[in-house]
Amino acid sequence: MKEIKQFDVVILGGGLAGIYTALCLSPKLHIGLFVKDAIERGSSNLAQGGIAAELSLEAEMLKEHFEDTLKAGAYQNKIEATKILVNEAKKNIDKLLALGVEFDRKEDGTLLSTLEGGHRSRRILHAGGDDTGAHMMKNLREAIFQAKNIDVYEDEMAIELLHNENKALGVIVINQQNEEVYVLANQIVLATGGIGGIYKKSTNEKIACGDGIAMAFRAGVKIENMEFVQFHPTGFYEEDRIGKTFLISEAVRGEGGILRNIEGVRFMDKYDKERMELAPRDIVSQAIHREMFDTWSDHVYLDVTHLSKEFLMKRFPTIYQHCLANGIDISTKYIPVSPVEHFLCGGITVDENGHTSMDNLYAVGECAYTGVHGANRLASNSLLECIVFGNRIAEDIHQYGTFTKLDVVLPDLVFTHKKYNFKDIRVEIRDVMTKYVFIVRTEENLLLAKKLLTKHYNNLKKIQIFSRYYYETINMVTVALLVIDQALARKESVGCHFRLN
Ligand code: SIN
Repeated sequence: MKEIKQFDVVILGGGLAGIYTALCLSPKLHIGLFVKDAIERGSSNLAQGGIAAELSLEAEMLKEHFEDTLKAGAYQNKIEATKILVNEAKKNIDKLLALGVEFDRKEDGTLLSTLEGGHRSRRILHAGGDDTGAHMMKNLREAIFQAKNIDVYEDEMAIELLHNENKALGVIVINQQNEEVYVLANQIVLATGGIGGIYKKSTNEKIACGDGIAMAFRAGVKIENMEFVQFHPTGFYEEDRIGKTFLISEAVRGEGGILRNIEGVRFMDKYDKERMELAPRDIVSQAIHREMFDTWSDHVYLDVTHLSKEFLMKRFPTIYQHCLANGIDISTKYIPVSPVEHFLCGGITVDENGHTSMDNLYAVGECAYTGVHGANRLASNSLLECIVFGNRIAEDIHQYGTFTKLDVVLPDLVFTHKKYNFKDIRVEIRDVMTKYVFIVRTEENLLLAKKLLTKHYNNLKKIQIFSRYYYETINMVTVALLVIDQALARKESVGCHFRLN
């Protein structure tokens, strides 16, 4: 007997995109929120710098945020979606405040804001100094656990979409007892995050395996712009560290941090004379990559020794303590940094209301390709994207969603229950992506990566093991191949996709 659950709306993912969408939906709707791990483990919790939002509502100020976003995105952004992103910021920040999020404030009570790369004015709100994500998510989780209409399932992973004639009907979930559950819903929202787990070093948790993107791809949903993988210029460098890398926020450069190569020489003037360290991330990451190559090193330095210890400890308490725990008092010593995978600008193609190419299926947050980031995301626009488009999805569902009892013919899937070990494949995916599909790409390397990973994809497809471990692994290979194929298809260099040939 198959276990079946039914909801009005099912949301996959417990980061900002998923939780905020759930909180914007009417309390009359019965919502199932499924998270494959503990709800605290998503990337939103790790966001440091903040959330970009122009709060003044003056046309000129909004235009500046819009223009900065396009410029950082190498003008590959979708215009309408980008206008929406900027124009609907204030209304959603107000909603966050009403939900109990506490951003940092000046003594007079007005909101504090900071500067980051690519922004021409201080429009980034932050919380807990440099711990914005953790603070925001804590407040929002409290709200979600209080909501009577939202059932939260942690450690339960959706593995396949149920669909018929291009209409989404639900998902198959592996529950905590390792049993299959058929979760039916009138509307399904994918908010499953990014793909950092396919690289050796990422600011994401290793659990970011591109699950929603891979699952949508298997169901024939349109996926675009996967080649635009953003590398954050300043991951904290530790020689042998693999996996989640501590982030040195862009806000550190916003407050005056200077990049120096291994010989102590400031270098950004060679790459962007005007904006220097505050150039957009693609430019800074590519510049660091070049400096590391020219100086035969695997890292550079971020220098904040000209800023006072008191200021650093107050403004960047998390970064200050992390570096100190690693033997670096940043008020007297340079911080070793190197670029690491950070954010996927492409993903599941959606329109301005979050609709994917499949009926009743929405996507939001890092797994979605709204087009607002173009070829390279402007700093701190990602959290903004989650709330603006999460709210639009909720409004769309209120306006057009129909809620009826679903009568679905369940597929006769035969899963194999085996304890196979996929560790070597996962290690190889990360090696291949880091070696051949990193900041600088060539045709030869991309083809080699494709050959190496296609072999694993074909082998994994032959077996269908009922385990989170298996699905994460096949999802990782699937999204890695999507990045490679779309990188091969784009011959020119643009934004964070840099082709040497
Ligand atoms: C940072 O603080 O540098 C990360 C924020 C972002 O990814 O936009």
